[in-house]
Amino acid sequence: MSYKLEKVELLDSKKKALKTFWANGKTSSFHYLWLRDNCPTNFHPDTKESFFDLLSVSENIHPKNVDFDNENLNIDWSEGEHRSTFSLAWLYEHAYSGDLQKDQSTSYVSWSKDFADKVPRVDYNKVISDDSALLDWMQALDKFGLTIVENMPDTEEAVSDTASRISFLRKTNFGTTFDVQSKPKPINLAYTAMALPLHTDLCNQELPPGYQFLHCLANDSEGGESIYVDSLRVMEDMRKDAPEKFQLLAETAIPFRFHDDSCDIRHHHTIINLDSFGNIIELKYNDHLADVFDMSEDIMYDFYLAYRDLMRRFKGPDYKIKLKLNAGDMAVFDNRRVMHGRDEFKPNTGRRHLRGCYVDRSEFESRLRVLAKSTSNA
Ligand code: OGA
Ligand code: ZN
Repeated sequence: MSYKLEKVELLDSKKKALKTFWANGKTSSFHYLWLRDNCPTNFHPDTKESFFDLLSVSENIHPKNVDFDNENLNIDWSEGEHRSTFSLAWLYEHAYSGDLQKDQSTSYVSWSKDFADKVPRVDYNKVISDDSALLDWMQALDKFGLTIVENMPDTEEAVSDTASRISFLRKTNFGTTFDVQSKPKPINLAYTAMALPLHTDLCNQELPPGYQFLHCLANDSEGGESIYVDSLRVMEDMRKDAPEKFQLLAETAIPFRFHDDSCDIRHHHTIINLDSFGNIIELKYNDHLADVFDMSEDIMYDFYLAYRDLMRRFKGPDYKIKLKLNAGDMAVFDNRRVMHGRDEFKPNTGRRHLRGCYVDRSEFESRLRVLAKSTSNA
C-alpha cells in the first residue's frame, strides 16, 4: 500500500504539532517532540533500540523547514542542525490522532455457557511439529482464552514439551511443572480430592502466571469434572449493569497470601484489572488465597457488596461450562482470564492425575507476533 501526502500544515505555535493531509482524505497531527523523539537516526541499526536523549532538545523544538515527496517527509529542526526523514508509510501506520486514531481494543472475544461445545480442540501431533498449526492454536487461545489439546502422549514430559513450543516455562513455588493428585500431606487444596471453586491460580504472586497447561494423564475416579468460566464476559456484564460495583473492584486492592513451611508469598491486587485504554484485561480471583481484607473503613462494606455481587455472578448458571478431561487431553487456558475449578472426586474409585505448567503472557504474545510474521512471509 502506498501512502501519499497532499499537504502539511504547521499548527499554531501553542499546539507544537503539524497536521498532515493524506491523499485518501484522512488527516492526522504529529507533535514536534514526538517526531524528534522518533527520528530514524535515533535507533541503533542492529538492535533497533533508541539511544536518543530526549532532554538533549528543548520542549520548544519546532521545524525550520518541512518538505515531502511521494516517499518521505523531511524536517529541518530549529535545534541541533538536525534533519529527520520519515517514510510516509511509517508515519501513516504510527499516526495517533484524528481519522487515524488506533483501535486499542484487545483481541479477546468473550463467551458464556453456550461455548461448551465450541471449545477449540487441536491435535498434539500437529502443534508439536507444524508452525502453522501452532499459530492457529495460539490465535484461538488468545481470542477465547480456553482450548483443549487432544492425543497427548502418556508421558511426564508431554506437558512441558507442548508448552515449550510456545516459550520457556514460568517456574513457581510449586516447581516448573507440578502434579495435581490427591496427596497424603497436601500443601494446596488442588492436591486433595475436594471440589475446587472457580479461581485463577497464584493471585498471591506479584505477577500471577499467564497461560496454564493441565495435561490429564488419568481421570478414572468418580467426579473430578472440570469447570470453566470466562470472567471477561462476567466482568463485561457487570460493567454494564453494576458500574459502581465494577469500579470499586477495579480500584480496590485486596491481599492474597500463600504460605507453607518454606514460603510466605503475599501481594495486594485489584480483582478486576483494566489496561490504560479501559479494556478489561485480567481477573485475579481466588477465594482460598484471599487474605484478611484491609481496605479503608469507608469502603469496607461497599466492597463486600461488590465482591458478593461478582461471586454470585460467577456461581450462576449463565456462564459456566463443565467437561470431563480424558486421559490424553490437555486443557490450556489464560489463567488471568478464564477461571477454572473442579468437582470433588472419589480417589478410591480410580486414579486422577493432571500435570501442569505455565507460560507467561509476554512470552506467549511475543511468540504469537513472531509466528504470525514468519508464517505470513512464508
Ligand atoms: C490447580 C487446579 C484443577 C483440577 O491445580 O490449580 O485448579 O482439575 N486443578 O484439578
Ligand atoms: Zn487452579
